[in-house]
Amino acid sequence: MALWTKAGVWMAGPQLALCWARTLGTRAATAPKAVLPFEAIPRCPGNRWLRLLHIWKEQGFEDLHLQMQQIFQELGPIFRYDVGGKHIVLLMSPEDVERLKQADGYLPHRTAMDPWLAHRQHYGHKCGVFLLNGPEWRSDRLRLNPDVLSLQAVQKYLPMVDSVARDFTKALLSKVLQNPRGSLTLDIQSSIFYYTIEASNLALFGERLGLLNHSPSPTSLAFIHALDSMLKTTVQLMFMPRSLSRWTSPRVWREHFEAWDYIFQYANNSIQKIYQELALGRPQHYSGIVAELLLNADMTLDSIRASSIDLTAGSVDTTAYPLLMTLFELARNPEVQQALRQESLLADAKISENPQRATTELPLLRAALKETLRSPHEEKTWHAPHHSSPPTAEETCCQGCGVSAPVLKNFQVETLTQDDIKMIYRFILMPSTLPLLTLRAIN
Ligand code: HEM
Repeated sequence: MALWTKAGVWMAGPQLALCWARTLGTRAATAPKAVLPFEAIPRCPGNRWLRLLHIWKEQGFEDLHLQMQQIFQELGPIFRYDVGGKHIVLLMSPEDVERLKQADGYLPHRTAMDPWLAHRQHYGHKCGVFLLNGPEWRSDRLRLNPDVLSLQAVQKYLPMVDSVARDFTKALLSKVLQNPRGSLTLDIQSSIFYYTIEASNLALFGERLGLLNHSPSPTSLAFIHALDSMLKTTVQLMFMPRSLSRWTSPRVWREHFEAWDYIFQYANNSIQKIYQELALGRPQHYSGIVAELLLNADMTLDSIRASSIDLTAGSVDTTAYPLLMTLFELARNPEVQQALRQESLLADAKISENPQRATTELPLLRAALKETLRSPHEEKTWHAPHHSSPPTAEETCCQGCGVSAPVLKNFQVETLTQDDIKMIYRFILMPSTLPLLTLRAIN
Protein backbone atom coordinates (compact mmCIF):
# COMPACT_ATOMS: atom_id res chain seq x y z
CA MET A 1 0.00 0.00 0.00
CA ALA A 2 1.46 3.28 -0.94
CA LEU A 3 1.49 5.56 2.02
CA TRP A 4 3.17 8.89 1.33
CA THR A 5 5.09 7.50 -1.53
CA LYS A 6 7.82 10.03 -1.98
CA ALA A 7 8.80 11.34 1.39
CA GLY A 8 9.26 9.53 4.64
CA VAL A 9 6.48 10.50 6.97
CA TRP A 10 6.45 10.04 10.64
CA MET A 11 3.94 11.15 13.20
CA ALA A 12 5.77 12.60 16.17
CA GLY A 13 4.81 10.96 19.40
CA PRO A 14 6.25 10.42 22.86
CA GLN A 15 8.69 7.90 21.39
CA LEU A 16 10.55 10.73 19.67
CA ALA A 17 14.27 10.67 20.32
CA LEU A 18 15.46 14.26 20.39
CA CYS A 19 18.77 13.46 18.81
CA TRP A 20 17.00 12.67 15.52
CA ALA A 21 16.59 16.35 15.01
CA ARG A 22 20.36 16.44 14.79
CA THR A 23 21.05 13.22 12.95
CA LEU A 24 18.52 13.79 10.22
CA GLY A 25 18.76 16.36 7.48
CA THR A 26 21.36 18.67 6.02
CA ARG A 27 21.29 21.15 8.87
CA ALA A 28 22.25 18.27 11.09
CA ALA A 29 25.30 17.41 9.03
CA THR A 30 26.77 20.88 9.57
CA ALA A 31 25.58 21.31 13.16
CA PRO A 32 27.95 20.97 16.12
CA LYS A 33 27.79 17.85 18.25
CA ALA A 34 25.19 19.07 20.72
CA VAL A 35 21.76 17.49 20.37
CA LEU A 36 19.20 20.01 19.17
CA PRO A 37 15.71 20.08 20.64
CA PHE A 38 12.71 18.83 18.65
CA GLU A 39 11.59 22.43 18.21
CA ALA A 40 14.73 23.13 16.17
CA ILE A 41 13.20 21.22 13.27
CA PRO A 42 11.79 23.88 10.93
CA ARG A 43 8.04 24.08 11.15
CA CYS A 44 5.74 24.78 8.25
CA PRO A 45 3.96 28.05 9.06
CA GLY A 46 0.17 28.23 8.98
CA ASN A 47 -2.77 27.27 11.13
CA ARG A 48 -3.31 23.54 11.51
CA TRP A 49 -7.07 23.88 11.99
CA LEU A 50 -7.42 26.04 8.89
CA ARG A 51 -5.58 23.32 6.98
CA LEU A 52 -8.09 20.82 8.25
CA LEU A 53 -10.96 23.05 7.24
CA HIS A 54 -9.46 23.18 3.76
CA ILE A 55 -9.30 19.37 3.53
CA TRP A 56 -12.88 19.13 4.72
CA LYS A 57 -14.09 21.74 2.22
CA GLU A 58 -12.14 20.25 -0.68
CA GLN A 59 -13.16 16.70 0.34
CA GLY A 60 -9.55 15.53 0.24
CA PHE A 61 -5.98 16.71 -0.16
CA GLU A 62 -5.24 15.95 -3.77
CA ASP A 63 -2.18 18.17 -4.15
CA LEU A 64 -0.56 17.08 -0.89
CA HIS A 65 2.54 15.70 -2.65
CA LEU A 66 3.08 18.98 -4.54
CA GLN A 67 2.65 21.08 -1.42
CA MET A 68 5.14 18.88 0.43
CA GLN A 69 7.65 19.18 -2.37
CA GLN A 70 7.37 22.95 -2.28
CA ILE A 71 7.80 23.10 1.49
CA PHE A 72 10.89 20.88 1.23
CA GLN A 73 12.34 23.40 -1.18
CA GLU A 74 11.63 26.23 1.22
CA LEU A 75 12.48 24.61 4.56
CA GLY A 76 15.08 21.97 3.70
CA PRO A 77 15.06 18.18 3.91
CA ILE A 78 13.25 17.87 7.24
CA PHE A 79 10.29 19.83 8.57
CA ARG A 80 7.37 19.69 10.94
CA TYR A 81 3.85 19.90 9.60
CA ASP A 82 0.77 20.08 11.79
CA VAL A 83 -2.70 19.43 10.47
CA GLY A 84 -5.74 19.17 12.72
CA GLY A 85 -4.77 16.98 15.65
CA LYS A 86 -1.80 15.42 13.86
CA HIS A 87 1.84 16.41 14.29
CA ILE A 88 3.92 15.15 11.42
CA VAL A 89 7.65 15.20 10.70
CA LEU A 90 8.55 14.80 7.03
CA LEU A 91 11.86 13.66 5.61
CA MET A 92 12.96 14.05 2.05
CA SER A 93 16.17 12.16 1.46
CA PRO A 94 16.19 8.36 1.17
CA GLU A 95 19.36 8.29 3.30
CA ASP A 96 17.53 10.02 6.16
CA VAL A 97 14.58 7.65 5.81
CA GLU A 98 17.02 4.74 5.92
CA ARG A 99 18.63 6.12 9.10
CA LEU A 100 15.22 6.60 10.66
CA LYS A 101 14.27 3.01 9.86
CA GLN A 102 17.54 1.81 11.37
CA ALA A 103 16.95 3.86 14.49
CA ASP A 104 13.47 2.34 14.70
CA GLY A 105 15.13 -1.05 15.10
CA TYR A 106 13.12 -4.21 15.62
CA LEU A 107 9.91 -2.53 16.59
CA PRO A 108 9.28 0.36 14.21
CA HIS A 109 6.40 2.59 15.14
CA ARG A 110 4.07 3.34 12.26
CA THR A 111 1.20 5.76 12.45
CA ALA A 112 -2.11 4.10 13.07
CA MET A 113 -4.31 4.76 10.06
CA ASP A 114 -7.17 5.96 12.21
CA PRO A 115 -10.17 5.50 9.88
CA TRP A 116 -9.07 1.92 9.14
CA LEU A 117 -8.51 1.24 12.81
CA ALA A 118 -11.97 2.62 13.63
CA HIS A 119 -13.54 0.05 11.32
CA ARG A 120 -11.64 -2.86 12.95
CA GLN A 121 -12.43 -1.59 16.45
CA HIS A 122 -16.12 -1.10 15.67
CA TYR A 123 -16.55 -4.75 14.65
CA GLY A 124 -13.93 -6.18 17.01
CA HIS A 125 -11.87 -7.44 14.05
CA LYS A 126 -8.23 -8.29 14.59
CA CYS A 127 -5.71 -6.00 12.84
CA GLY A 128 -3.37 -7.27 10.14
CA VAL A 129 0.29 -6.30 9.79
CA PHE A 130 -0.48 -3.01 8.13
CA LEU A 131 -2.20 -1.66 11.24
CA LEU A 132 -0.28 -3.45 13.97
CA ASN A 133 2.68 -2.05 15.86
CA GLY A 134 5.09 -3.33 18.51
CA PRO A 135 5.72 -6.99 19.34
CA GLU A 136 2.41 -8.11 17.84
CA TRP A 137 3.36 -6.61 14.48
CA ARG A 138 6.82 -8.16 14.64
CA SER A 139 5.51 -11.59 15.48
CA ASP A 140 2.91 -11.61 12.66
CA ARG A 141 5.31 -10.06 10.18
CA LEU A 142 8.03 -12.65 10.88
CA ARG A 143 5.47 -15.39 10.35
CA LEU A 144 4.27 -13.86 7.09
CA ASN A 145 7.72 -13.25 5.59
CA PRO A 146 8.53 -16.84 4.55
CA ASP A 147 5.26 -17.21 2.61
CA VAL A 148 4.88 -13.66 1.29
CA LEU A 149 8.08 -11.65 0.99
CA SER A 150 10.99 -14.10 1.02
CA LEU A 151 12.71 -14.77 -2.27
CA GLN A 152 11.56 -18.40 -2.10
CA ALA A 153 7.95 -17.28 -1.68
CA VAL A 154 8.21 -14.85 -4.58
CA GLN A 155 9.70 -17.61 -6.72
CA LYS A 156 6.69 -19.76 -5.94
CA TYR A 157 3.98 -17.30 -6.90
CA LEU A 158 5.85 -15.60 -9.70
CA PRO A 159 4.84 -18.26 -12.28
CA MET A 160 1.21 -17.55 -11.34
CA VAL A 161 1.63 -13.83 -11.95
CA ASP A 162 3.52 -14.61 -15.13
CA SER A 163 0.70 -16.81 -16.45
CA VAL A 164 -1.84 -14.03 -15.83
CA ALA A 165 0.49 -11.52 -17.51
CA ARG A 166 0.69 -13.73 -20.61
CA ASP A 167 -3.09 -14.18 -20.72
CA PHE A 168 -3.54 -10.44 -20.33
CA THR A 169 -1.28 -9.82 -23.32
CA LYS A 170 -3.00 -12.53 -25.37
CA ALA A 171 -6.43 -11.06 -24.68
CA LEU A 172 -5.19 -7.58 -25.65
CA LEU A 173 -3.53 -8.92 -28.78
CA SER A 174 -6.68 -10.64 -29.96
CA LYS A 175 -8.61 -7.36 -29.48
CA VAL A 176 -5.96 -5.41 -31.37
CA LEU A 177 -5.86 -7.90 -34.23
CA GLN A 178 -9.63 -7.65 -34.71
CA ASN A 179 -8.93 -4.14 -36.01
CA PRO A 180 -7.83 -3.87 -39.64
CA ARG A 181 -5.22 -1.26 -38.71
CA GLY A 182 -3.59 -3.70 -36.30
CA SER A 183 -3.79 -1.15 -33.53
CA LEU A 184 -6.12 -0.24 -30.70
CA THR A 185 -6.42 3.09 -28.91
CA LEU A 186 -7.84 2.81 -25.45
CA ASP A 187 -7.98 4.05 -21.90
CA ILE A 188 -6.22 1.01 -20.51
CA GLN A 189 -6.95 1.61 -16.83
CA SER A 190 -9.85 -0.81 -16.49
CA SER A 191 -7.94 -3.59 -18.30
CA ILE A 192 -5.00 -3.03 -15.97
CA PHE A 193 -7.26 -3.26 -12.93
CA TYR A 194 -8.65 -6.59 -14.17
CA TYR A 195 -5.08 -7.78 -14.61
CA THR A 196 -3.98 -6.76 -11.09
CA ILE A 197 -7.10 -8.27 -9.49
CA GLU A 198 -6.71 -11.48 -11.48
CA ALA A 199 -2.99 -11.75 -10.65
CA SER A 200 -3.46 -10.87 -7.00
CA ASN A 201 -6.35 -13.29 -6.61
CA LEU A 202 -4.35 -16.12 -8.14
CA ALA A 203 -1.20 -15.45 -6.10
CA LEU A 204 -3.12 -15.02 -2.84
CA PHE A 205 -5.98 -17.50 -3.17
CA GLY A 206 -4.91 -19.82 -5.99
CA GLU A 207 -8.07 -19.07 -7.96
CA ARG A 208 -8.58 -17.70 -11.47
CA LEU A 209 -11.50 -15.29 -11.80
CA GLY A 210 -11.55 -15.17 -15.60
CA LEU A 211 -11.58 -11.36 -15.68
CA LEU A 212 -9.37 -11.14 -18.74
CA ASN A 213 -11.62 -13.05 -21.09
CA HIS A 214 -15.17 -12.49 -19.95
CA SER A 215 -17.03 -9.38 -18.96
CA PRO A 216 -16.01 -8.74 -15.37
CA SER A 217 -18.48 -10.03 -12.81
CA PRO A 218 -20.53 -7.58 -10.72
CA THR A 219 -18.54 -8.83 -7.71
CA SER A 220 -15.23 -7.72 -9.23
CA LEU A 221 -16.64 -4.38 -10.29
CA ALA A 222 -18.04 -3.82 -6.82
CA PHE A 223 -14.64 -4.74 -5.33
CA ILE A 224 -12.85 -2.13 -7.49
CA HIS A 225 -15.47 0.43 -6.51
CA ALA A 226 -15.06 -0.42 -2.82
CA LEU A 227 -11.27 -0.02 -2.98
CA ASP A 228 -11.62 3.30 -4.73
CA SER A 229 -14.14 4.58 -2.23
CA MET A 230 -12.13 3.30 0.77
CA LEU A 231 -8.95 5.10 -0.41
CA LYS A 232 -10.75 8.32 -1.25
CA THR A 233 -12.59 8.55 2.06
CA THR A 234 -9.39 7.66 3.96
CA VAL A 235 -7.82 11.00 3.02
CA GLN A 236 -10.99 12.88 3.93
CA LEU A 237 -10.94 11.37 7.42
CA MET A 238 -7.32 10.63 8.31
CA PHE A 239 -6.30 14.10 9.53
CA MET A 240 -9.40 14.75 11.62
CA PRO A 241 -9.92 13.59 15.21
CA ARG A 242 -12.71 11.01 15.23
CA SER A 243 -14.61 13.00 17.83
CA LEU A 244 -14.87 15.86 15.34
CA SER A 245 -15.38 14.02 12.06
CA ARG A 246 -18.28 11.97 13.41
CA TRP A 247 -20.19 15.28 13.52
CA THR A 248 -18.75 16.99 10.45
CA SER A 249 -18.53 14.02 8.08
CA PRO A 250 -21.05 11.28 8.95
CA ARG A 251 -21.70 10.56 5.27
CA VAL A 252 -17.98 10.04 4.63
CA TRP A 253 -17.71 7.70 7.61
CA ARG A 254 -20.67 5.71 6.33
CA GLU A 255 -19.09 5.40 2.89
CA HIS A 256 -15.76 4.42 4.45
CA PHE A 257 -17.31 1.68 6.58
CA GLU A 258 -19.44 0.36 3.72
CA ALA A 259 -16.35 0.15 1.52
CA TRP A 260 -14.40 -1.79 4.15
CA ASP A 261 -17.43 -4.03 4.80
CA TYR A 262 -17.40 -5.01 1.15
CA ILE A 263 -13.62 -5.56 1.05
CA PHE A 264 -13.88 -7.77 4.15
CA GLN A 265 -16.77 -9.73 2.65
CA TYR A 266 -14.86 -10.18 -0.61
CA ALA A 267 -11.65 -11.40 1.07
CA ASN A 268 -13.53 -13.52 3.62
CA ASN A 269 -15.36 -15.39 0.86
CA SER A 270 -12.08 -16.31 -0.77
CA ILE A 271 -10.48 -17.35 2.52
CA GLN A 272 -13.54 -19.42 3.42
CA LYS A 273 -13.35 -21.31 0.11
CA ILE A 274 -9.67 -22.16 0.59
CA TYR A 275 -10.27 -23.16 4.18
CA GLN A 276 -12.98 -25.58 3.13
CA GLU A 277 -10.84 -27.08 0.36
CA LEU A 278 -7.87 -27.54 2.68
CA ALA A 279 -10.08 -29.13 5.30
CA LEU A 280 -11.03 -31.72 2.66
CA GLY A 281 -7.42 -32.53 1.77
CA ARG A 282 -3.91 -31.16 1.34
CA PRO A 283 -3.23 -29.86 -2.18
CA GLN A 284 -0.49 -31.62 -4.13
CA HIS A 285 0.97 -28.45 -5.59
CA TYR A 286 1.65 -24.91 -4.47
CA SER A 287 -1.70 -23.14 -4.51
CA GLY A 288 -1.04 -19.60 -3.36
CA ILE A 289 0.05 -17.51 -0.39
CA VAL A 290 -3.03 -17.89 1.83
CA ALA A 291 -3.12 -21.68 1.47
CA GLU A 292 0.55 -21.80 2.54
CA LEU A 293 -0.20 -19.64 5.57
CA LEU A 294 -3.11 -21.89 6.54
CA LEU A 295 -1.12 -25.08 5.98
CA ASN A 296 1.87 -23.91 7.98
CA ALA A 297 -0.42 -23.45 11.00
CA ASP A 298 2.05 -20.94 12.35
CA MET A 299 -0.46 -18.14 12.87
CA THR A 300 -3.97 -18.14 14.28
CA LEU A 301 -6.79 -18.22 11.76
CA ASP A 302 -7.81 -14.72 12.85
CA SER A 303 -4.30 -13.36 12.23
CA ILE A 304 -4.12 -15.00 8.81
CA ARG A 305 -7.51 -13.59 7.92
CA ALA A 306 -6.57 -10.08 9.11
CA SER A 307 -3.33 -9.94 7.13
CA SER A 308 -4.92 -11.60 4.09
CA ILE A 309 -7.39 -8.72 4.02
CA ASP A 310 -4.44 -6.27 4.05
CA LEU A 311 -2.84 -8.18 1.19
CA THR A 312 -6.09 -8.28 -0.79
CA ALA A 313 -6.79 -4.58 -0.31
CA GLY A 314 -3.15 -3.59 -0.72
CA SER A 315 -2.29 -5.33 -3.94
CA VAL A 316 -4.66 -3.90 -6.54
CA ASP A 317 -4.47 -0.09 -6.86
CA THR A 318 -0.85 0.00 -5.67
CA THR A 319 0.27 -2.10 -8.61
CA ALA A 320 -2.26 -0.86 -11.19
CA TYR A 321 -1.30 2.82 -11.15
CA PRO A 322 2.49 2.39 -11.34
CA LEU A 323 1.93 -0.03 -14.19
CA LEU A 324 -0.29 2.43 -16.02
CA MET A 325 2.20 5.24 -15.47
CA THR A 326 5.11 3.05 -16.60
CA LEU A 327 3.31 2.31 -19.87
CA PHE A 328 2.58 6.00 -20.31
CA GLU A 329 6.19 6.99 -19.61
CA LEU A 330 7.44 4.37 -22.04
CA ALA A 331 4.95 5.59 -24.64
CA ARG A 332 6.40 9.09 -24.47
CA ASN A 333 10.00 7.86 -24.23
CA PRO A 334 10.15 5.54 -27.28
CA GLU A 335 13.91 5.01 -27.15
CA VAL A 336 13.65 3.73 -23.56
CA GLN A 337 10.75 1.55 -24.63
CA GLN A 338 12.89 0.12 -27.42
CA ALA A 339 15.72 -0.66 -24.98
CA LEU A 340 13.31 -2.46 -22.65
CA ARG A 341 11.79 -4.38 -25.57
CA GLN A 342 15.27 -5.52 -26.59
CA GLU A 343 15.92 -6.68 -23.04
CA SER A 344 12.59 -8.56 -22.87
CA LEU A 345 13.18 -10.25 -26.22
CA LEU A 346 16.68 -11.35 -25.23
CA ALA A 347 15.44 -12.73 -21.92
CA ASP A 348 12.28 -14.30 -23.38
CA ALA A 349 13.54 -17.85 -23.89
CA LYS A 350 15.07 -18.02 -20.41
CA ILE A 351 11.94 -16.62 -18.75
CA SER A 352 9.57 -18.88 -20.70
CA GLU A 353 11.64 -21.83 -19.56
CA ASN A 354 11.68 -20.60 -15.98
CA PRO A 355 9.42 -17.62 -15.08
CA GLN A 356 11.33 -17.17 -11.82
CA ARG A 357 14.19 -15.72 -13.85
CA ALA A 358 12.05 -12.63 -14.47
CA THR A 359 13.50 -11.32 -11.19
CA THR A 360 17.08 -11.40 -12.48
CA GLU A 361 16.90 -11.17 -16.27
CA LEU A 362 15.14 -7.83 -16.60
CA PRO A 363 17.24 -5.21 -14.75
CA LEU A 364 16.27 -2.35 -17.07
CA LEU A 365 12.59 -3.09 -16.66
CA ARG A 366 12.97 -3.19 -12.89
CA ALA A 367 14.78 0.13 -12.99
CA ALA A 368 11.99 1.64 -15.11
CA LEU A 369 9.32 0.45 -12.67
CA LYS A 370 11.31 1.78 -9.73
CA GLU A 371 11.79 5.07 -11.52
CA THR A 372 8.02 5.41 -11.93
CA LEU A 373 7.60 4.73 -8.22
CA ARG A 374 10.41 7.10 -7.24
CA SER A 375 9.24 10.35 -8.73
CA PRO A 376 5.59 10.47 -9.66
CA HIS A 377 5.50 14.21 -10.18
CA GLU A 378 8.98 15.09 -11.36
CA GLU A 379 10.42 14.72 -14.79
CA LYS A 380 11.87 11.25 -15.12
CA THR A 381 15.59 10.78 -15.50
CA TRP A 382 15.35 7.16 -16.56
CA HIS A 383 18.55 6.24 -14.81
CA ALA A 384 18.78 3.38 -12.41
CA PRO A 385 17.55 4.39 -8.94
CA HIS A 386 20.16 6.24 -6.89
CA HIS A 387 20.02 4.09 -3.83
CA SER A 388 19.66 0.44 -3.17
CA SER A 389 17.30 -0.61 -0.45
CA PRO A 390 16.49 -3.91 1.22
CA PRO A 391 13.61 -5.93 -0.30
CA THR A 392 10.31 -4.24 0.48
CA ALA A 393 6.69 -4.55 -0.52
CA GLU A 394 7.60 -2.25 -3.38
CA GLU A 395 10.06 -4.86 -4.62
CA THR A 396 7.23 -7.33 -4.50
CA CYS A 397 5.24 -4.90 -6.56
CA CYS A 398 8.04 -4.62 -9.13
CA GLN A 399 7.95 -8.35 -9.47
CA GLY A 400 4.18 -8.26 -9.66
CA CYS A 401 4.31 -5.67 -12.43
CA GLY A 402 5.99 -8.27 -14.63
CA VAL A 403 3.18 -7.86 -17.15
CA SER A 404 5.22 -5.05 -18.73
CA ALA A 405 7.63 -7.52 -20.36
CA PRO A 406 5.00 -9.52 -22.32
CA VAL A 407 3.20 -6.29 -23.26
CA LEU A 408 6.38 -4.72 -24.63
CA LYS A 409 7.26 -7.81 -26.62
CA ASN A 410 3.91 -7.79 -28.39
CA PHE A 411 3.08 -4.12 -28.72
CA GLN A 412 4.52 -0.78 -29.56
CA VAL A 413 2.93 1.56 -27.00
CA GLU A 414 2.26 5.10 -28.22
CA THR A 415 0.61 8.23 -26.96
CA LEU A 416 -0.17 11.66 -28.31
CA THR A 417 0.22 13.29 -24.89
CA GLN A 418 3.78 14.43 -24.29
CA ASP A 419 3.13 16.60 -21.24
CA ASP A 420 3.42 15.42 -17.67
CA ILE A 421 0.17 14.09 -16.31
CA LYS A 422 -1.07 15.71 -13.13
CA MET A 423 -0.96 13.24 -10.27
CA ILE A 424 -3.40 13.43 -7.39
CA TYR A 425 -3.12 12.04 -3.91
CA ARG A 426 -5.98 9.82 -2.80
CA PHE A 427 -3.94 7.89 -0.28
CA ILE A 428 -2.09 6.50 -3.25
CA LEU A 429 -0.91 8.69 -6.10
CA MET A 430 -2.93 8.35 -9.26
CA PRO A 431 -3.21 10.25 -12.52
CA SER A 432 -5.92 12.93 -12.47
CA THR A 433 -6.73 12.22 -16.12
CA LEU A 434 -6.17 8.94 -17.86
CA PRO A 435 -3.94 9.03 -20.92
CA LEU A 436 -5.13 7.35 -24.11
CA LEU A 437 -2.61 4.76 -25.19
CA THR A 438 -2.33 3.22 -28.65
CA LEU A 439 -1.19 -0.38 -28.73
CA ARG A 440 0.24 -1.38 -32.10
CA ALA A 441 0.84 -5.07 -32.66
CA ILE A 442 4.44 -5.94 -33.51
CA ASN A 443 4.77 -8.52 -36.31
C1 HEM B 1 3.80 -0.29 -6.20
C2 HEM B 1 3.31 -1.11 -5.33
C3 HEM B 1 3.35 -0.87 -3.84
C4 HEM B 1 3.78 0.20 -3.15
C5 HEM B 1 4.33 1.52 -3.67
C6 HEM B 1 3.61 -0.11 -1.77
C7 HEM B 1 3.98 0.73 -0.71
C8 HEM B 1 3.88 0.40 0.63
C9 HEM B 1 4.25 1.24 1.72
C10 HEM B 1 4.87 2.63 1.60
C11 HEM B 1 3.99 0.57 2.87
C12 HEM B 1 4.18 1.09 4.30
C13 HEM B 1 5.46 0.60 4.88
C14 HEM B 1 5.60 1.08 6.32
O1 HEM B 1 4.61 1.19 7.04
O2 HEM B 1 6.73 1.35 6.71
C15 HEM B 1 3.44 -0.70 2.51
C16 HEM B 1 3.07 -1.68 3.39
C17 HEM B 1 2.40 -2.84 3.04
N1 HEM B 1 2.07 -3.24 1.79
FE1 HEM B 1 2.46 -2.25 0.07
N2 HEM B 1 3.07 -1.36 -1.66
C18 HEM B 1 2.89 -1.87 -2.90
C19 HEM B 1 2.40 -3.10 -3.25
C20 HEM B 1 1.89 -4.01 -2.36
C21 HEM B 1 1.40 -5.32 -2.71
C22 HEM B 1 1.40 -5.91 -4.13
C23 HEM B 1 0.95 -5.90 -1.57
C24 HEM B 1 0.34 -7.25 -1.35
C25 HEM B 1 0.53 -8.32 -2.05
C26 HEM B 1 1.19 -4.96 -0.49
C27 HEM B 1 0.90 -5.20 0.84
C28 HEM B 1 1.40 -4.44 1.88
C29 HEM B 1 1.30 -4.83 3.28
C30 HEM B 1 0.65 -6.10 3.84
C31 HEM B 1 1.93 -3.83 4.02
C32 HEM B 1 2.13 -3.78 5.53
C33 HEM B 1 3.47 -4.41 5.82
C34 HEM B 1 3.86 -4.34 7.28
O3 HEM B 1 3.46 -3.41 7.96
O4 HEM B 1 4.58 -5.23 7.75
N3 HEM B 1 1.74 -3.83 -1.02
N4 HEM B 1 3.36 -0.77 1.13
